[in-house]
Amino acid sequence: MENYFNFKKQINEIELNKIAAQIKNGKLVLFPTETVYGIGTNGLDAEAVKRIYQIKGRNFKNPINLLVSSMEMVEMVAQDITDLEYQLMETFFPGPFTLILKKKSCVPAIVTATSNTVGVRMPNHEIARKLIAYAGVPIAAPSANISGKLSGTNLEDILADFSDKVDFMIDGGSCHLGIESTIVKVIDGIPHILRPGAVTSEQIKQISGQVIVESSNLPSHDLKHYQLGVPSILISGKNEEKTITKIKEIAKNYDFPILLTFSENQNQYHTIHVMDIGSKNNLEEISKNIFTKLRQAEKLKPDIIIIEGVEKKGLGLAIMNRLLNVCNHHCIEMES
Ligand code: TXA
Ligand code: MG
Repeated sequence: MENYFNFKKQINEIELNKIAAQIKNGKLVLFPTETVYGIGTNGLDAEAVKRIYQIKGRNFKNPINLLVSSMEMVEMVAQDITDLEYQLMETFFPGPFTLILKKKSCVPAIVTATSNTVGVRMPNHEIARKLIAYAGVPIAAPSANISGKLSGTNLEDILADFSDKVDFMIDGGSCHLGIESTIVKVIDGIPHILRPGAVTSEQIKQISGQVIVESSNLPSHDLKHYQLGVPSILISGKNEEKTITKIKEIAKNYDFPILLTFSENQNQYHTIHVMDIGSKNNLEEISKNIFTKLRQAEKLKPDIIIIEGVEKKGLGLAIMNRLLNVCNHHCIEMES
């Protein structure tokens, strides 16, 4: 594949510079960030951004965020930024944090789905940061997945969907965090979390004193939930014994159930095909693994995927938000 660049061990600066120049000219690139892979192009080029919508099969009502590499670039695309918004950016940039700001007129209407706001994020990933900086323009980049599918957290998972549709693919290995950024919009001086992520509500509250979690208020919310090719169900609860019994009971009704569960619980299920999503005491590990494990499970064509949930606290809130979406809210919460 001549459009494939392997920067897993080391970035080839000359090649990255060449790709960045092409991105500025409206070419499309798959590239890693610390959250998930993005599919990006020059965010100020309406025609190029249109291609991203088409390739993803994305609804034009669903706006796309801009990735930046500096505060100057934030100010290139956003205006009337308040002190609290600056404070949030100073604290959480670069990182898994997207802030919805009032847009400037240079941002094409197609990027923001005609709204007067624009989502801005400064990724904390060397390849992504350099790509943006070398391009010298903000990069419009949604998650690299066909609309309605799970975000890609390594290049192998998305190669088949995109290899003949994008101009460049940069392989940076697995994404460190594995789920998409926290999205925040400040409304009347209070940060509202529109999508939970690795920057938690607790962390945001430390800056602003107040925070409102409204995890289902994105423009994309009414459009689509993630779709797996097979049915799935989420089981969660504090009482582990009860949860395990319930999982066994559900699994009995299927010929080929697959269970995504914690490392510690692998031995509890002798007759069920289990997959390890990480230690129950390590939410970072679970978040990093979850999308790719779901994809692996789906490929085995089970008649159901059963997923053991985590507590909706800290990073657990973001993990459960994605899992509920995957299961289309088909969830059993066990009483303790
Ligand atoms: O971690 C991430 O945020 C990844 C990486 C690639 O940066 N990107 C990502 O993009 O998840 P995407 O397009 O898959 O999700 C962005 C979400 C969408 O649900 C979109 O509706 C919302 O952000 N969004 C974008 N612009 C917005 C705006 N102006 N107001 C409200 N929501 C917005
Ligand atoms: Mg997405």
